[in-house]
Amino acid sequence: MYEDAVELAKRRGFFWPSFSIYGGFAGFYDYGPLGVLLKDNIVKIWKEEYLDDGAIFLDSPNVTPEPVFQASGHIARFSDLASECDQCKNKFKLETVLGFNKISSIPKSLKDAEELVEKYNLKCPVCGSVIKKVYDFNLMYRVSGDYYLRPETAQGIFVNFRLLNNYNRGKIPMVVGQQGKGFRNEISPRQSLIRLREFNQCEVEVFLDPENLKFAELYDYKKIKIRPNTGEDLYISVKEAYGKKIISNQAFAYFVLKTQVILEKIGISNDKLRFRQHEPDERAHYAADSWDAEGLIDDEWFEIVGIANRTDFDLRNHENSSGNQMRIKINEKDVIPYVIEPSYGIDRILLTLISQSMEKKDGKNLLRLPYYMAPYHIAVFPLMKKDNLKEKAEELYSKLKKVDSYILYDETGTIGKRYARQDEVGTPFCITIDYQTLEDNTVTLRNRDTAEQERIKIKDVLDSNFIKNLIENKSKL
Ligand code: GLY
Repeated sequence: MYEDAVELAKRRGFFWPSFSIYGGFAGFYDYGPLGVLLKDNIVKIWKEEYLDDGAIFLDSPNVTPEPVFQASGHIARFSDLASECDQCKNKFKLETVLGFNKISSIPKSLKDAEELVEKYNLKCPVCGSVIKKVYDFNLMYRVSGDYYLRPETAQGIFVNFRLLNNYNRGKIPMVVGQQGKGFRNEISPRQSLIRLREFNQCEVEVFLDPENLKFAELYDYKKIKIRPNTGEDLYISVKEAYGKKIISNQAFAYFVLKTQVILEKIGISNDKLRFRQHEPDERAHYAADSWDAEGLIDDEWFEIVGIANRTDFDLRNHENSSGNQMRIKINEKDVIPYVIEPSYGIDRILLTLISQSMEKKDGKNLLRLPYYMAPYHIAVFPLMKKDNLKEKAEELYSKLKKVDSYILYDETGTIGKRYARQDEVGTPFCITIDYQTLEDNTVTLRNRDTAEQERIKIKDVLDSNFIKNLIENKSKL
């Protein structure tokens, strides 16, 4: 469904490649009118779910001075091994060149990579010439002088730790979220929203007492596919995974479970979601343990949330580099807290959601988003533009908008085409004003998933709880 999702997204206004009038630039995408609303709904669920856990939020700058990334290790270590062809001048991730040349060994350092390049006559995937050049490529964008665009929102939270903890009256655990943009100069951006150079993150840093890595109680929830780096896939609940010591600490397990719940609420299918533990050599430089929530699109798994145990790595480094104390009193001791970080890739979640929600019904597209996730809740149509139907529909549309902002009006094309258009973008309900409306002030209400229609009195539709109940799936239609 990936190809269909990308085609639909462009045609109907969810997302499309940026700057296309200038030929397009790899790794940049715009959200169109429907995508903006869908993205907002994803962020809203994330925010509300973490508010339930007492989260506070921060909004810090994208442009970040160099000392922050000196301390965080991003200047020295946030890089990919890259290679360049001397002939055609194309640049590649080294793993792309190795894959093209069917070499399975993965170099762990620049030295390893240089030895590999020396040993094999690696061919350029584009022109076939022998590749000789291999180097470390830092993924951060340097904007000017000593400033960088942040590659993660997290550092804004770490450098503000003391101010945030004062705000939080010194309490630990402390949960801090930040929604915003991240930037990475990817060598090979790919697959639309999967690998972008400018992307949307919702990150949470959970600060904990290192001697008490516990958060809220773990509860029984649905079984899910869990792949520890020690071997086999298991189909168990997160609580069981913690019980079997597959997930090492209680707080970490809680935020894995939280991620499962949030993604499911967003509309990612539990059957097409798994948690995979990173191999030790796969982890980011700051992580002692990492698990990815991966979503399935067609037959490929993609990371959509990364959950990392960052220990006291970041706070300790900022304390050392800035000379400002990052330790707080916990049980009479001065302690640097430990951090667990669930980091949500909003663009990938949105792409996965659209891909997993697309269905073909009678040869037509149907986007089965959860009702509350749909960009618009209701579309209002006049059956025809004549005989006062249009005026009546416009009147209902403006009254409905006072009850719910996410209402659409459409009078173009046949009624069948209008229903199909809304089905394709996930609008759960359509209301049609027809000739009977003029007689008895009733309308037809049509459901996206069943295509069933029901006659409802206009005064009932305008009841403030009516739409709310429909969208929350509490009413029968
Ligand atoms: N903060 C984790 C990441 O951006 O990958």
